[in-house]
Amino acid sequence: MKAVEIKPNIYWVGAIDWGVRDFHGYITHHGTTYNNYLINDEQVTLIDTVKDDFCYATIDNIKSIVEPKKIVNLVINHIEPDHASGIDTIMHVIPHATIYISERGKRGLERYFDITRWNIKVVKSGDTLTTGKYTLLFLETPMLHWPDSMVTYVREAKLLISQDAFGQHLATAARFDDEFIECASLRDLEDAVIDYYANILMPFGQLIKGKIDEIIKLGIEIDMIAPDHGIIWRKDPGKIIQMYLDMAHGKAEEKIAIIYDTMWHSTERMTIPIMEGIKDEGMDCTVIKLRATAMSTAIKEFWKVRGSLIGTPTINNVMFPSVAEFLYHLGGLRPKSRMVSAFGSFGWGGGGVKEALEACKRMGLETVEPGIQCQYTPTSEDETKCYEFGRSFALKVKEYNKQFLR
Ligand code: FEO
Repeated sequence: MKAVEIKPNIYWVGAIDWGVRDFHGYITHHGTTYNNYLINDEQVTLIDTVKDDFCYATIDNIKSIVEPKKIVNLVINHIEPDHASGIDTIMHVIPHATIYISERGKRGLERYFDITRWNIKVVKSGDTLTTGKYTLLFLETPMLHWPDSMVTYVREAKLLISQDAFGQHLATAARFDDEFIECASLRDLEDAVIDYYANILMPFGQLIKGKIDEIIKLGIEIDMIAPDHGIIWRKDPGKIIQMYLDMAHGKAEEKIAIIYDTMWHSTERMTIPIMEGIKDEGMDCTVIKLRATAMSTAIKEFWKVRGSLIGTPTINNVMFPSVAEFLYHLGGLRPKSRMVSAFGSFGWGGGGVKEALEACKRMGLETVEPGIQCQYTPTSEDETKCYEFGRSFALKVKEYNKQFLR
């Protein structure tokens, strides 16, 4: 593969990972890319490396532009191994280069590598590096999403190299948003953005708002956003910034997700009248069986909508394990501004629905209690109650959603 010029003498030199389906437990149905960028200026500068197994690809791409040994600066925006595990391999090629990294990045890097071999210059927000024609401005973005994280703004190109922020796990032939629109659906691209945000950035909404405000106050003009995964925002960088602001403000579709699992189809049978009740209130509804769905997809579907109904059978007086796992994972992502309730079947003691609602309350979600249960399997009377439960929950979600409409 060849490097792709994204701005005059600035190139994408990354790698496409068509095959990755399990990204530290996050299921990546569409693969991903590890993007890094080469500035072929008076001082040849590489921004980020790639995952170590893909170093051959980035070195080939760099060679299509310049002899790799000519690189004198290596900027490390983020040390997570999908970007930084290739540093050792790259530094064998350019042992003379200076690494530019945040203080916390340096402290993390020395846990992974023997950094005493390397020239390292610690940078902080506002520091700059002039490569010749171009000036690089570093902005630390701690906890977006690791302590070390920073972004690099190439002033003369109005280019924000944004590391994980604004990225997507999407391996495609397209490198830019406008190409993607031509060769695939824009809806798929937006879905990949939401998937990434929900599974990686959901806990950091307040920090995201603050950092975007800070960038706006600095008067930084952004003509292009080049993240470390997925496509580059060339045609409409404002679109991805607005999507992030909307998600950080808690924007969601006025819609309901039924997220359930089932042992002997009883909880599953309850989903049908509940769904019909929701539909009859004029609201759209997605239904997801947990053991048939990747965890990261269930998280995304939860995040996309204003209301969710958690369906769980009771087993040994507690939630069904896959439902417990989902709620445990969701809790770590600290969701906000969502309404939930629960339903499910039980044999004798019950307890699963109550436990699911308690887990949702601990997350601080708007919880509608007591949910609904049926014994063994739903009778026609239970089904009528489920239908009414669906209608009632839809009405509550509509009312709750009003405060988020701007
Ligand atoms: Fe793509 Fe936080 O690594």
